Amino acid sequence: MERKSLIIANWKMNGNILLIEQMIQALSPLQMDSNTDVVICPSTPYLSTFNDVTKKANLSGKISLGAQNVSEHESGAFSGETSATMLKEFKVKYVLVGHSERRQIYNETTELTAKKVKAILNAGLTPILCIGETEAERMAEQTQAVLTAQLQPVINEIGITKLAEVVIAYEPIWAIGTGKTASSEMAQETHQFIRQFLANINTDVAQQVPLIYGGSVNTTNCEQLFAQTDIDGGLIGGASLKVDEFIVICSAA
Ligand code: PGA
Repeated sequence: MERKSLIIANWKMNGNILLIEQMIQALSPLQMDSNTDVVICPSTPYLSTFNDVTKKANLSGKISLGAQNVSEHESGAFSGETSATMLKEFKVKYVLVGHSERRQIYNETTELTAKKVKAILNAGLTPILCIGETEAERMAEQTQAVLTAQLQPVINEIGITKLAEVVIAYEPIWAIGTGKTASSEMAQETHQFIRQFLANINTDVAQQVPLIYGGSVNTTNCEQLFAQTDIDGGLIGGASLKVDEFIVICSAA
């Protein structure tokens, strides 16, 4: 079975109704391969706007909706939180989890990330599990140990078979929003390591899991990155806020 490829826009705390309208309009003529999903992850208040705009443009289902965060709980007294079941009601298909901004700014641990992955799967949605090392960790040759330590607790929480339903985004933290991209060779090498790590546990799952790259993906480097054997797409931050650039990146997939 061919692995799915994904181009995911992580708008972070940026964007507005106008950007959703402009992006959907620009994406509508784009002919994507049936095995490639284009996903927009706007801030939570815009989830329903996205649905209204895609419906009006007759594009429901063509572009998928993703959320940037979710609670590990199903419901209850957790002010300010949103559950995976709530996201599902808004036709969300994918949920980002473990992004380095959540880990670093909001102190989200790997254990919490694993619980969130489980909550997302329980609601029938697809987690996009972000993992990655800092610059200091790469310099100290700890990349593989760091990635393993981020993946193993998730596998322990959900079991290896369920991991086949997860998308893994490798995002070297030093490349996020910095303009410093991992070279396509370096990215491929790390993706290959991740796939091999999974293959040592379960070869079928390792072949099925889409591994996407994130960190300063732009119109210049996207084609080379996406051409690598173990890179199944990209998680795009800054460049996904510019309609023209995002279209070029989608076309490269
Ligand atoms: P960037 O962000 O493309 O702006 O580096 C990627 C991300 O944080 O997912």
